[in-house]
Amino acid sequence: MADLPFSPQQYVEQLLNWYGRQGRDLPWRQSRDPYRIWLSEIMLQQTTVAAVRGYYQRFLDNFPTVERLAAAPLEAVIDLWAGLGYYSRARNLHATARILVEEYQGRFPADPQQLQQLPGIGRSTAGAIAALAFERRAAILDGNVRRVLCRLFAFAQPPRSTPAEKQLWAWADLLTPVERVHDYTQAIMDLGATVCTPRQPQCPECPLDKLCQARRFGLEQELPVKQKTKQIPTRHELTLLVEDDRQLLVRRRLTDGFLGGLWEFPCIGLAAEADAEAKLAQLKADLGVVGEAEPLGEVQHVYSHFRLRSYIYHVRVEQHLLIADAVGCWVRQTELQQLALHGAHKKVLGKLLNHGV
Ligand code: ADE
Repeated sequence: MADLPFSPQQYVEQLLNWYGRQGRDLPWRQSRDPYRIWLSEIMLQQTTVAAVRGYYQRFLDNFPTVERLAAAPLEAVIDLWAGLGYYSRARNLHATARILVEEYQGRFPADPQQLQQLPGIGRSTAGAIAALAFERRAAILDGNVRRVLCRLFAFAQPPRSTPAEKQLWAWADLLTPVERVHDYTQAIMDLGATVCTPRQPQCPECPLDKLCQARRFGLEQELPVKQKTKQIPTRHELTLLVEDDRQLLVRRRLTDGFLGGLWEFPCIGLAAEADAEAKLAQLKADLGVVGEAEPLGEVQHVYSHFRLRSYIYHVRVEQHLLIADAVGCWVRQTELQQLALHGAHKKVLGKLLNHGV
């Protein structure tokens, strides 16, 4: 590897001094309990601190130990996760809790390699748990750190390519100190979240501004370079909002499939948009619905591997549906906001509420 443009000691010192002055006081920071640290790291994946705070405490109130989490049914964990999104995290959390209780006497391994074997714990999260809970010298490379390093080294490759990842991990590792690795790990996450932000980085406030190569060349707004978005296929579905006296019919998805354990409105896959009429008739028949269904428009939702386009229909039923009782349950419109509906159907609900039906 080429020489570094600054000394790692100087870098660590500047960062730790800044952390002492400006570091955030967050609920998981005073703890060295790996359970609490693991939970916070999982909740904070792809989610801001502001969104996580309330969920974190509520989750701990319900599941104060890994044993209590492992003993709970998956559905209870998912329902508590409602609104945080990325529900595979809740499923993996539950699966990991069970493995820890069954195979590790409820104790977390301190070794990042072992941590990485557990569901939902990737290389960066394993590093974070090892560093924060066990003071192990282990590097992290989450979205914030990736951005800090791209700027620090004026690194002009798309950061998610395989060679770029390799380079960024090498830098992350090289810069991680042996001492005070807990504080260092918190510090670099805080820097990325509060100073070295995606837009309008606050360079005059930055403890690294004299070392930062992007700053030196005036590239801080340009870096990291944008990743090209990849082409993904579109899938189509028809969603039927069945209303009976201000209540809507919802069902829970099977726990072991895609979006497992989440709630949804009754829906049916379409080969293409043109297929809607026939499939609407089929879905109504499956649910025992009679009556005219009104189209409410469509929503789109993008997953990592496909785009979902959902065509929404709304029907008010005249008579209570016994068939529907068997496939799902009825929830008041006002209570649907609290339900763990998957993301696409959250948008469907938004459409209904906007429509004022
Ligand atoms: N993002 C990921 N982990 C974090 C942590 N421990 N504190 C603040 N933000 C984070």
